[in-house]
Amino acid sequence: MTPFDFRPRTRVLFGAGEFARLGEAARELGGTRCLLVADQGMLDRGYAQDAIRSLRARRMEVFAFHDFSSGPTAAMVAAGAEYAAPHTIDLIVGLGGGSSLDCAKAINFVLSNGGSIKDYWGYGKAAKPMLPMIAVPTTAGTGSEAQTSAVIADSESKVKMACGDSKAGFRAAILDPKLTVSQSRTLTATSGYDAISHAIETLVSTRRNALSECFSRSAWRLLNSSFERVLKEPEDLEARGAMQLGSHFGGLAMEYSMLGAAHACAGPLTANYDLAHGAAIALVLAHVVEWNRPVAARIYDELGDVVSRLRELAEFAELPATLHEANVPEAALPRLAEEAGTHWTGKFNPRQFDEAAALEIYRCAY
Ligand SMILES: [Fe+2]
Repeated sequence: MTPFDFRPRTRVLFGAGEFARLGEAARELGGTRCLLVADQGMLDRGYAQDAIRSLRARRMEVFAFHDFSSGPTAAMVAAGAEYAAPHTIDLIVGLGGGSSLDCAKAINFVLSNGGSIKDYWGYGKAAKPMLPMIAVPTTAGTGSEAQTSAVIADSESKVKMACGDSKAGFRAAILDPKLTVSQSRTLTATSGYDAISHAIETLVSTRRNALSECFSRSAWRLLNSSFERVLKEPEDLEARGAMQLGSHFGGLAMEYSMLGAAHACAGPLTANYDLAHGAAIALVLAHVVEWNRPVAARIYDELGDVVSRLRELAEFAELPATLHEANVPEAALPRLAEEAGTHWTGKFNPRQFDEAAALEIYRCAY
């Protein structure tokens, strides 16, 4: 069996209304001066104001940073660290989707260890201790609250840099399904399908271990049974909670088991075309499962007819079904395959994955 070192580092507060306990959780971590990293949408929806109220009620000083967008860049991270530096921050709260959570982690690297975020590209490059952090995810998808890496784009080249360290894990995560109710149908669909792909890819990756398999299977069970429900009844808190937990378990599985060829093939699609990550994943995931079958059939079969189910879920969510339908020109496939072949997640795919494999998968998906 594959050896592992499981060190749970995140306290998880799960349930409708748990968001109100943010101030209490922050105090328990010894925070007195808090940096709140929350995107503009959090201000528009009033969640940022709610967070500030909860923190202030516990006598904390709050400094809010909102100047970043989805897919945060190194320059945005630098601006956040520069803003926070004079305030002698002792705690960071990330509130929002994966971008807010990744931005919070990245600012922590620079604030506590100096330099620029690019210096931490890779894993384990932060020598000094990092500040305690709390995650409050408002989407169910990335599972970033369960991971010790942040994905940040290089400001010039736009290359996505995964920057991680075992010290960069959130000390607490508040999973309040009420916060995910205001996601649009499109965001619910794309982020939910992304979470589903995390369950599927981690279950078969070459890095999987007995523990990550538990998280992958639980994630699949929760997501598979609630994805259609949240799309049909967006206010259903039971289903929203199941999606949020499923996404969290998927994130935990990823922390140990990495990903695979579907993420490798989706990377160049989002980088070159106007496609959300989850939509790009939906275009290739079922094809990757079929392509992997010769080496992973036994594991997939435990989930039932997983290829048909993945297609059914994508169709229900009205995600694009083919690369052709998503306006990807056929002539671009070889160039995209070249990019996909070098994507870091492909290394962990159970069947040896390279440029030729990516082209085969893209052609099936066209
Ligand atoms: Fe993903």
